[in-house]
Amino acid sequence: MQSITLHVNGQPYTVEVHPDMPLLWVLRDLLGLTGTKYGCGIGQCGACTVHQDGEAIQSCTTPVSEVHELVERRNAGDAPLWDSIYRTPYWDVVHCNSTSLLGWLILVQRRHIAAIEELSEAEAIELGKLIRHVSIVLTELTGCIKTYVVQFAEAPGHHHVHFHIIPRMPNQLEEHRGPGIFKQRGVSEAERVSEADMNELAQKVRLYLERSGSLKIVDGVTLE
Ligand code: FES
Repeated sequence: MQSITLHVNGQPYTVEVHPDMPLLWVLRDLLGLTGTKYGCGIGQCGACTVHQDGEAIQSCTTPVSEVHELVERRNAGDAPLWDSIYRTPYWDVVHCNSTSLLGWLILVQRRHIAAIEELSEAEAIELGKLIRHVSIVLTELTGCIKTYVVQFAEAPGHHHVHFHIIPRMPNQLEEHRGPGIFKQRGVSEAERVSEADMNELAQKVRLYLERSGSLKIVDGVTLE
């Protein structure tokens, strides 16, 4: 047994569990959060999907210790580059890890909010600048002709504000344009962008954002 602290919908919970216990059973049986449903139990149907910092994961096949370690690693500065590309006071920039499209980035709100109107003025200003800068660097690095920006906060059991910034490639298949772009997310392991490719792109995005002085905001005052 191991003592593990999880943050669910902004609330911290500490549980004594075997580290291999699937996250689904921790949520449902130990925490009583039954909004997360059991379907197939083998990671196929999506009934148990939850979002971890904006990334969809199947909780029936994800050991609770894995979730704990990812969050801890990011906070400790030890996360893989693609999962912690750039951190501002209010937003984390990460690469989507379940996509076949290189450059599918996500801006994740660092505190828990469930709707855009809950953003503070400073958070909104920083978001606008990030969307612009991330779109500029993605256009440079991927050759996309523009970016899509999408926000739902509709993940079952975890309504959390995060913005998808998605390259729209010149040769984008018709069926993958507009809302169809989400067919390129949640794809099988074999179709996903490799970790090496995500990290290579992440390094370049990080360098660009680090040099973008206009992103530094202190107490709502922009330093330009
Ligand atoms: S229960 Fe079907 S994917 Fe988890």
